Amino acid sequence: MKPTRVMFFCLGNICRSPLAEGLFCHHLETRGLAHLFHVESSGTSAYHVGDPPDLGSQRVVLKHLNLDISHQRAQQLSAWHLDEFDIVVAMDESNRSNALRLRPAARVYLLRDFDVESPGDDVPDPYGGGPNQFEVVYEMVYRCTERLLDDLLQNGKLK
Ligand code: 4NP
Repeated sequence: MKPTRVMFFCLGNICRSPLAEGLFCHHLETRGLAHLFHVESSGTSAYHVGDPPDLGSQRVVLKHLNLDISHQRAQQLSAWHLDEFDIVVAMDESNRSNALRLRPAARVYLLRDFDVESPGDDVPDPYGGGPNQFEVVYEMVYRCTERLLDDLLQNGKLK
């Protein structure tokens, strides 16, 4: 069976979307489902292409889950990704708009479409912030990626 391809993206691909990639993969591992999915993340900018995740993001997942995301490398979101990935998820509205400029007809979800708390809001950008900001983003991204996976498993695909 072809794996379901999931793309998470933000602006720089060093703070929020690497967390989303790491945490979605963590939920998959926990449930023994990793073989069914191909997961990547990206940024709508090229500012940090080739860089590992921000230390704030690396530290927060190490602290909570002993999860190492240091191997991830930032890449820029392309029109090809929007064509080829099955599920494409933006961290905020501004970056969703950036993506829709590449492919106006693309179906792009917001991560917080899958949030019981304030659905449809942005995942705030923690770039340049302290550990508390990364902590808030971690909690948000953890619960939304879990709910995204639940929805995918329940419906086979998203609405
Ligand atoms: P991210 O955060 O989009 O969550 O990766 C940012 C990272 C870098 C920049 C902005 C946001 N930057 O301007 O370099």
